[in-house]
Amino acid sequence: MARIAVFNQKGGVGKTTTTLNLAGLLARRAADPLVIDLDPQAHLTGVCGITVPRAEMSLYGLYANGAALSSLQCATANGWQLIPSHLELSKVDTQYGRGPSVLYRLGQALDREAAERPVLMDACPMLGVLSLGSVFAADGVLIPISADYLAMKGALQMERTLKALEQVLKRRMPRRYLITRYDARRRMSVDIERQLRERYGEEVCATRISENVSLAESPASHRDVFEHAPASRGARDYADLLEELVSAGFLRAHVREPRPQLRNVPAGARTALSAGREAAARHQVAAGLHLVQSGRSGR
Ligand SMILES: Nc1ncnc2c1ncn2[C@@H]1O[C@H](COP(=O)(O)OP(=O)(O)OP(=O)(O)O)[C@@H](O)[C@H]1O
Ligand SMILES: [Mg+2]
Repeated sequence: MARIAVFNQKGGVGKTTTTLNLAGLLARRAADPLVIDLDPQAHLTGVCGITVPRAEMSLYGLYANGAALSSLQCATANGWQLIPSHLELSKVDTQYGRGPSVLYRLGQALDREAAERPVLMDACPMLGVLSLGSVFAADGVLIPISADYLAMKGALQMERTLKALEQVLKRRMPRRYLITRYDARRRMSVDIERQLRERYGEEVCATRISENVSLAESPASHRDVFEHAPASRGARDYADLLEELVSAGFLRAHVREPRPQLRNVPAGARTALSAGREAAARHQVAAGLHLVQSGRSGR
């Protein structure tokens, strides 16, 4: 799978840390990852040492005026391309409504411009247009679960959200739960791991990300953990995680050859076909959003 949304509605669980370090590993494999900061807090953008003077130069530009992703992406010192965030991205939720054209905008832009590249999306800790859009754009969702006392609550909340979205998508969204900030000396870490594995089985990554000071410190130097402390436990854990996700087929770690073009299909026929699909998708998104928002997802 090429596009992964790193998402948990619960805050501070390691979404940005996971995105930063997986992106660093993909870049080291020459996979040319495209990374998208969907969080108006712009933590990932800040960690990369990037600030954009105007909101339109960030992901906001895609929503505000349909800017091409290629015009928004910035090269980071860590060797990958970032679509940066900006505080004004928070306005997307209220400014442009919650219709399908907004919800599908990111996925459609990625189809047009990054169909062959691995994409990592660092979602914000909120269920809004941006994070829903990242799930709609994704092939799979990676859900970091910090081994603290509200961990199971966050996991259950995510399960309900994904279930509601799956009614729209009409398929099971592939997912992996990733235990972060694990400390084997803490009873709580051990208990949470047991509960997660009992409930979600194979969907819990075998790799755990340990509580590790190098992971906490590396953002201050605008670097990933592989630059900052390559021999650290955190670097080993994320390297193991990438191997696991790639060998399970959950994450693609290379640029794919361009797809062959459709042949022998009259252009008009393709347009009619995609128009039909779009109309059906619009209907489904509206229905799914209603489910999520009306609480029928079980919350
Ligand atoms: N394994 C770890 N060991 C130690 N510190 C960690 C670890 N993972 C993350 N942190 C630290 O925990 C804090 C939260 O991590 P991070 O920003 O990645 O979470 P997040 O889920 O992206 O947060 P938010 O929901 O606010 O976007 C950061 O200060 C980060 O450096
Ligand atoms: Mg974050």
